[in-house]
Amino acid sequence: MRLLSSMFCCVALILAGCDKGEPNATASAGGSGSGKSLTVGFSQIGAESSWRTAETNSIRSEAEARGIDLKFSDAQQKQENQIKALRTFVSQGVDAIVLAPVVKTGWEPVLREIKQAKIPVILVDRGVDVADDSLYATLIASDFVAEGRMAGEWLATKTNGKANVAQLEGTPGADPAIERAKGFLEAISKHPEMKIIKSQTGDFTRAKGKEVMEAFLKSPEGAEINAVYAHNDEMALGAIQAIEAAGKKPGVDVIVVSIDGVRDAFRAMIDGKLNCTVECNPLLGPAAFDAVAKAVKGEALPKKTIVQDKLYDQTTANVDIMTRKY
Ligand code: AHR
Repeated sequence: MRLLSSMFCCVALILAGCDKGEPNATASAGGSGSGKSLTVGFSQIGAESSWRTAETNSIRSEAEARGIDLKFSDAQQKQENQIKALRTFVSQGVDAIVLAPVVKTGWEPVLREIKQAKIPVILVDRGVDVADDSLYATLIASDFVAEGRMAGEWLATKTNGKANVAQLEGTPGADPAIERAKGFLEAISKHPEMKIIKSQTGDFTRAKGKEVMEAFLKSPEGAEINAVYAHNDEMALGAIQAIEAAGKKPGVDVIVVSIDGVRDAFRAMIDGKLNCTVECNPLLGPAAFDAVAKAVKGEALPKKTIVQDKLYDQTTANVDIMTRKY
């Protein structure tokens, strides 16, 4: 009898708790009112570019605004560090994981473990190659092929379809490095007198972009280079330093096109040293946590949400810079 009455008390307490909207299994996005606040793990690639820092800040500030407990891990460009962080998030029992994957391949085993733990994964900025796309809930990213195509078409117009291009590639195996190369090649292939005569990774950093460009300019083909296509602004800004050090005028003797649209790129366009940049929006925090909110409630999400990008060149850079947010 005593057992029965204490069981009744427990049921009554649980029901009372539910009435007050207290914690339950299907939590809403942290701080939105109807459920417990969420704990979300965010595995970030690193801090190789100001673009990356802007993305980190966007995710951190959006988490804070929504009262989400964000567990942040910086992988310093290493996939193995990301995999370790993901396993730690699982052992911590996070409600969801936001992942910006450094490279495209090698994620299946860890994503399977996460799926078994019933934790939704939101991919931001870069995609992954997996046979089973149920291993992640959604991907929020730019169309990198379109970005490369836009850069290539702009360069073709600027050079009347004649250019000897030095390409600074992103991190080997990274989604944007692969796709931006593809889109650019697709665009310049329509112009028989446009060729990529040098191509090497600069790992998306300014320092490596400079180093690689210096080597390109000193190589036997160096004197022929009259255009640079960099997979991000950081590498373009490094290349600009190398071009100047070689006694040439970036933006004039060597046309420089790149991708990202960070504030420093707009400054370089105003100075006439960078010719154009294709925006790749890093402010993914709001969309990422909207997706988290839906995923934890088991709501359907589109497999991919494409972030719209736009090309900017020197003609309006001094006005555009005033409204740049990163
Ligand atoms: O994945 C997006 C790319 O990664 C950005 O273009 C670059 O700046 C960053 O490091």
